[in-house]
Amino acid sequence: MKIYHLSAECYPVAKVGGLGDVVGALPKYQNLAGLQAAVVLPFYDRKFTQENEFETVFAAATLLGNKRYFFEILKEKTDKLGFELYLVKIPGLLDRENIYSYPDEREQFIAYQLAFLDWISYSQQTPGLIHCHDHHTGLVPFLLYHSKLYTRLANVPTVFTIHNGQYHGAFGWDKLSLLPEIDLTKTGLLDWAGGINPLAAAVKCSWKYTTVSPSYLEELTYNSNGLEYLFYTERLKGTGIMNGIDTEVWNPQTDAMIAAKFTARTLAKGKRANKEVLCSRFELNPEKPLFTFIGRLVVEKGADLLARAIERSLLENEGEINFLVLGTGDKETEQDLLKLKNKYPEHCAVFIGYDEALAHQIYAGADFLLMPSRVEPCGLNQLYALRYGTMPVVRATGGLRDSVIDFGDEGGYGIRFIQDNVQDICHSVFRAKQLYKDTAKLQQLRKQMMTLDFSWARSTQQYIDLYKSLNPII
Ligand code: GLC
Repeated sequence: MKIYHLSAECYPVAKVGGLGDVVGALPKYQNLAGLQAAVVLPFYDRKFTQENEFETVFAAATLLGNKRYFFEILKEKTDKLGFELYLVKIPGLLDRENIYSYPDEREQFIAYQLAFLDWISYSQQTPGLIHCHDHHTGLVPFLLYHSKLYTRLANVPTVFTIHNGQYHGAFGWDKLSLLPEIDLTKTGLLDWAGGINPLAAAVKCSWKYTTVSPSYLEELTYNSNGLEYLFYTERLKGTGIMNGIDTEVWNPQTDAMIAAKFTARTLAKGKRANKEVLCSRFELNPEKPLFTFIGRLVVEKGADLLARAIERSLLENEGEINFLVLGTGDKETEQDLLKLKNKYPEHCAVFIGYDEALAHQIYAGADFLLMPSRVEPCGLNQLYALRYGTMPVVRATGGLRDSVIDFGDEGGYGIRFIQDNVQDICHSVFRAKQLYKDTAKLQQLRKQMMTLDFSWARSTQQYIDLYKSLNPII
């Protein structure tokens, strides 16, 4: 029976962050394990959709308030991604380039969810399970069970995965008319703090919910932007399943995006060659330990602490270290980092933007990856870094806590700190710099990192077990 993954992102079709990576990989590994998993995304006018062929498998109209929208379900013709890919195309609403931040984003995601449900309820086959990811798809479980339109599907199990509990997608009750006719005795299920809250509704209505690491499940009960009580009361319905990484895409042995391919055996030579390429591009001295940060420059990731921590570390370590930052986000943070680059051009390089190939090259060539996250539901970057023998230096929260053991502890291979402040970051940078001098120890730890298994194989099985507990004949 088919399993449908619903998400706003899916690599390589459309990706902004880790959500895209997960939805681009998990279904593929589920299929390899014998399931029939498909992905349904909103249609975006981007490179992938322009360069690939699609066929229309369904066309109809859906009502959003009093406005009628025609929609098509397009299917990618080759299944080359390792799963069937369906796109919901709605002229005038879901046919644009960007994934987020349009003023009518609410309407876009509601229409996407309704079109999906309309399509599925018309089709002959009943899905085995519907797996929704993050708040953009959070109304599906509610609508499935409490709208008269979809009663045929009322026994289909739903699983909801929280990749980021800080964002809820909430909107006012004045927009209730955007939803189809629902059982009005059930509107409490949509409500949180006086508004319609898709994340809360999904937690309440899905049969099970998951978080992308075990620690994050617990963390939501005290840090979820107002939903703490909900997560506390619903905690027995939740499971924490650590994300994996796509080891086909992230493999230093075969990675076409890096300058020198390498394995755990050839790692000393390979990393050095990649570091030289990287340092020459950014005019940094390859003899010095290279610290890097990759990701969105936002408070959640602790990016606002970076500029101060980098400057203080440079002064404390008398310029014996270098930094390279790749990312985009809050303008003030971008400006602070660019100022730093101008002040210390020999030690600090900053690339504002996102560049997938450069990210690969950085994992391959850097020595340390900084992740001072305030919130990190799972974090994939530390897992990519480990696979490329780059030591993660992380704040022990969420998935970072679950995946990085400090090298000072038994079996450890990374660096952890507790507080989200400049001092803790600087102290960890200092520890890393000291470790860098002990070449033999660092090599041994790098080897260890590269042999760790954070592939999807393990986590896929946990999802399958969860699915089977809800629908044994999947
Ligand atoms: C979000 C989270 C990140 C997680 C990713 C994939 O981007 O912030 O921690 O790894 O989703 O689940």
